[in-house]
Amino acid sequence: MNVEHLKKIAAEKATEEIREGMVVGLGTGSTVFYALLKIGTMVRDGLNIIGVPTSSGTEQIATEQGIPLSTLAAHSTIELTIDGADEVDAHLNLIKGGGAALVREKIIANASRRILIVVDESKVSQVLGTSFALPVEIVQFGWEVTKREVDKVCGQSEMRGGVQNPLITDNGNYILDCHFDGIPEPEKVELQLNNIPGVVENGIFVDRADKVIIGTPDGIRYME
Ligand code: A5P
Repeated sequence: MNVEHLKKIAAEKATEEIREGMVVGLGTGSTVFYALLKIGTMVRDGLNIIGVPTSSGTEQIATEQGIPLSTLAAHSTIELTIDGADEVDAHLNLIKGGGAALVREKIIANASRRILIVVDESKVSQVLGTSFALPVEIVQFGWEVTKREVDKVCGQSEMRGGVQNPLITDNGNYILDCHFDGIPEPEKVELQLNNIPGVVENGIFVDRADKVIIGTPDGIRYME
């Protein structure tokens, strides 16, 4: 079955948990995209909510959809966040950041009472870091030294976009994609990486998701 269909059914299922008056965290990526379209329709049909976007890309799509937006400055507690993931393990730990929005996504996750993760079934994995490289956001200053220290943890990383034309995040930083042979202790690696000077944040999300909504050819499956 078409993977886009699986993303769509998962994302649309998550929007069923949105209630009138909620402050909703709006994640980033090609799966959440379908939730944004659905929320846009719900808003045009009369639903009153306020969205807090996790990236400039999501801000743009949500604006096009007519979803009223705000910031953490005005709404520091978010009732429900809908976001995607690149990899999900059986304990609901996640790798995120394929869309380079991991810093804002983690800040919004931290401010959220409840987090729904929407994925197609290809994202589910036995051990994190076996099917997706871990994104690590680093400041530009001294990046060569930061990369050397990051490589001591993961073995090997690559500058996203390449050294000649590196991707710049919404926060003005670089992303290193770190290749692990699996991350059996994600909590430990998350802290290890964040302890390196120059690392802003990494894409390991431990114990943050309340529910994972998975699109499969047989319909929706949940992990809670
Ligand atoms: C954005 O930085 C990411 O964390 C996305 O949520 C994640 O990459 C999932 O994106 P897709 O839904 O496009 O796979």
